[in-house]
Amino acid sequence: MIISSIAASKIIKNRKIPINIKQLMLTILFVIVLSTILYCFKSQGDISFNLRDENVFSIPNHINLANYFPQDNLTGTKPTIFCIIKTHPKNIEIKKTLNVFLVWGHKCDNYRFVTLLPDHIRSDKSSLETVEVFDQFYMIQPKGLSVEDHANLTLKLYYSMVYVYEKFPNFDWYYIVDDDAYVNIGNLKEFLKYKPSNEMITYGYNFKHIVKDGYHSGGPGYVLSNAAFTTISKALNEDITNCPNTGIDDVDINQCVRKYNGKKGKSLDEKGREKWLVFNLTTHFTGSYPGWLIEAAENPPKGGLDCCSDSLIAVHYMTPRDVFRLDLAIEIQKNVIRLYDQYLKLGKKVTFKNIIKNYYLLEDIEYDENKYKDLIKY
Ligand SMILES: *[C@@H]1O[C@H](CO)[C@@H](O)[C@H](O)[C@H]1NC(C)=O
Ligand SMILES: *[C@@H]1O[C@H](CO)[C@@H](O)[C@H](O)[C@H]1NC(C)=O
Ligand SMILES: *[C@@H]1O[C@H](CO)[C@@H](O)[C@H](O)[C@H]1NC(C)=O
Repeated sequence: MIISSIAASKIIKNRKIPINIKQLMLTILFVIVLSTILYCFKSQGDISFNLRDENVFSIPNHINLANYFPQDNLTGTKPTIFCIIKTHPKNIEIKKTLNVFLVWGHKCDNYRFVTLLPDHIRSDKSSLETVEVFDQFYMIQPKGLSVEDHANLTLKLYYSMVYVYEKFPNFDWYYIVDDDAYVNIGNLKEFLKYKPSNEMITYGYNFKHIVKDGYHSGGPGYVLSNAAFTTISKALNEDITNCPNTGIDDVDINQCVRKYNGKKGKSLDEKGREKWLVFNLTTHFTGSYPGWLIEAAENPPKGGLDCCSDSLIAVHYMTPRDVFRLDLAIEIQKNVIRLYDQYLKLGKKVTFKNIIKNYYLLEDIEYDENKYKDLIKY
């Protein structure tokens, strides 16, 4: 734009246009050049980030990843999934929440982010009833929530569940998950395809302690069947004290599922590898788990290629950039294999090995590094 404007000004000079028209045109030109510069400056401001700050939003708002891989649009296919995604005003502000929405949140058949509403869209009386707002994505501020506080997490979710149960009662599964998780909704649907949503059952990362028969970690999230979700939301709707409230939401919700005789399902793949990861991808892959996990995990945690399933469902503690990278790592592979099948009928499957390779490759491209070389031992 700037270059072509300069070229145009040379042509104008050569033609010897009378001075007043020339001045007028130069003024117009000046305005155009100035607004171009300002526009470039502004749009750079929108996406500017510190290359090393993994927490800063990295996808421009207008990009919908679903458009890159439209054949992967599973919205409305069975089984249907409603996502309840926990977030908070600070993450909305730094666009971490938006990133989650753009990468995988929009792939849920429906969803609500649950949060204390950020100041700029919060009205005074908002805490008496559950309030719903759309600002780039749908969010609800559950009834009674007046501060974001760890002590409030259980009630924050209980009131959200009651609201979702009343307004969106007909989904096959309900997924409760954190905003620092990566979720592959396609793999989740595949996993749930033949699972009974009319039985009281839940799936996620399995801990064996604290709750009778164990519970699922809230970080990478867990799905409740329609039966499980409906039963406990109905109970909560009748009396919010029907379920325990210690403030630790995943423990309390699992405890309540157990109270109403719901079961904790198993989700290891056929090779005994996890589909829900309680730590970040690198921690699982390198096997550098904290000691307490050995005591708490239902399945002995493994490292290397045995750590994780080819059909990963969710990974916790992921920065926005990790979330983006892992989604690309998986979806690129799916699409490459799809193309290969069209041309060569190779019949290959997505493997964790190739997911992890892609994931590090993308990071290497992003940062001009070669972390990938450290993978050779695997
Ligand atoms: C995905 O499919 C649904 C249902 O057919 C449609 O409403 C939605 O617009 C599609 N989304 C994208 C991003 O193409
Ligand atoms: C949240 O916690 C604050 C204090 O920590 C309390 O005043 C408020 O009533 C709590 N709200 C809910 C819904 O628990
Ligand atoms: C994964 O978690 C480990 C341990 O908390 C941390 O050192 C590492 O930076 C994390 N990796 C990424 C990519 O976030």
